[in-house]
Amino acid sequence: MKVHIFAAALAASVAFSGAARATDLEVTHWWTSGGEAAAVAEFAKAFDATGNHWVDGAIAGGGDTARPIMISRITGGDPMGATQFNHGRQAEELVQAGLMRDLTDVAEKEHWKDVIRPASLLTECTVDGKVYCVPINIHSWQWLWLSNKAFEDAGVPVPKNWDEFVAAAPALEKAGKIPLAVGRQSWQTSGAFNVLMVAIGGKDIYKKVYADKDAKVAAGPEIAKVFKAADDARKMAAKSNVQDWNQATNLVITGAAGGQIMGDWAQGEFQVAKQVAGKDYTCLPGLGVNAIISTDGDSFYFPKLSDPEKSKAQEVLASIMLSPKTQVAFNLKKGSLPVRGDVDTNAANDCMKKGLDILAKGNTVPSTNQMMTEDSNTQINDLFAEFFANPSMTPEAAQKRFADIIASAQ
Ligand code: BGC
Repeated sequence: MKVHIFAAALAASVAFSGAARATDLEVTHWWTSGGEAAAVAEFAKAFDATGNHWVDGAIAGGGDTARPIMISRITGGDPMGATQFNHGRQAEELVQAGLMRDLTDVAEKEHWKDVIRPASLLTECTVDGKVYCVPINIHSWQWLWLSNKAFEDAGVPVPKNWDEFVAAAPALEKAGKIPLAVGRQSWQTSGAFNVLMVAIGGKDIYKKVYADKDAKVAAGPEIAKVFKAADDARKMAAKSNVQDWNQATNLVITGAAGGQIMGDWAQGEFQVAKQVAGKDYTCLPGLGVNAIISTDGDSFYFPKLSDPEKSKAQEVLASIMLSPKTQVAFNLKKGSLPVRGDVDTNAANDCMKKGLDILAKGNTVPSTNQMMTEDSNTQINDLFAEFFANPSMTPEAAQKRFADIIASAQ
C-alpha cells in the first residue's frame, strides 16, 4: 500500500514538473479595441497550445503611448518576452544597441525568405544580414469607411469617392450627423493627412516627400492641394470630439457619423459589431480616388533574455506567429492581410479581398514608419493635432511648417 502511495506521489510530481515546464512569456502590444482583442487572442491560443503560456501585456492608449513604455522597459533592464512595433524604423536604435534577439536561425530553418511577401518586410527586419523581427501582417491606412445608414438617413447616395463625400457633408450635417469621425490623438490626424496625400497627390509625390525628403515638393502646389483637402476634412470633423480611433469607428458603426479615414484595422470593429461590408458599411480603398495601399503593419521583436527556457519559448512564439494556420486566424480577425502568400484567404470579406487584389497588382507604397524616424513622425503628429484643433491655423501656414519638418528629416 505504501509503495502505491509513493508511486502515485511520484507520478503526480512528474506530472507537476511537466506542467511546470510551461514557460510564461509576457508579450506587450497596444491591441485593446474589440477587434484587436479578438485577433490577439488567436496568437495567445496558438502559443498556449504549444505548452507554453502567453502572458498578455496589453497597453491601452494606442502605439504612441505604448511604445515609450516598451522602450523604457527594454532599456531599463526589465524586458518582456516579445513586443509589437510597427514595420520599419521604430526599433532600429534598440537593435543597434544590441538589446534585441537575433532570430536568423529560426528564419533560416523555416524559410522565411521564401514565404514572406512583400520581401521588403523581411528586409526591414534584417540588420547586417541578421533577422531581428517577425512581420506578422500587412495593414494599410488608405481606407474610407462609410456608414450606409448615415447616408440613407440623410437622403443622399453613399459616396463613391472623396469628392462625393465632401459634397455630401452639408446633407449629413442637416440630418444631425458628423460628416467625418476623427479621433483626436495626433497619429490619427496625421494619418488622415497622409492618406489624403497618397489619394490626391499620388504615389510619386508621396515618395518624394517621405522617402526622398524633398522639401521643395513638400512646399509646392501638389501638396498645397492635399492641405486644401485636409482643410475640408477638419471642417467635416469639427464636431467629432472622441479620442480613440475605435470610438470614432463606433460613430460610423452606429450611423452617427458618415465616415472615417482609418487603417484597415477598423474592419475588426465592424466584424465584432456583426456588420456586413456592402450592406451596412462601405469601404473605399484609396478613398475611391487612387487604389493604392501602404505596407504598414506590425512586427514582433524579442528582447535578449538571460533565462534559457524563456529564450527557447521566444523561438516557439516567433515560429507560431508565422505558421499558416495562425496567420489566417489572426489576420481574419484583425482586418489585415497575411504576410505569407501561400495561405488560404478564401474566408476574407469583401474589403479584405479588395486589399488582396491591390496587393497582388503591386499598387503599394511604403508606410511613413518605414521611411521616417519616430522623431520626425512625432513632429508631423504634433502639427496635425494642432491643425485639426485650431481652425485659425491656415492651410498655408501648416504647409510651411510641414515643409520645414521634411527639410530637417533624416
Ligand atoms: C497597428 C495596428 C493597430 C492600430 C490601432 C497600428 O499602429 O499597426 O495593428 O490595430 O495601430 O491600434
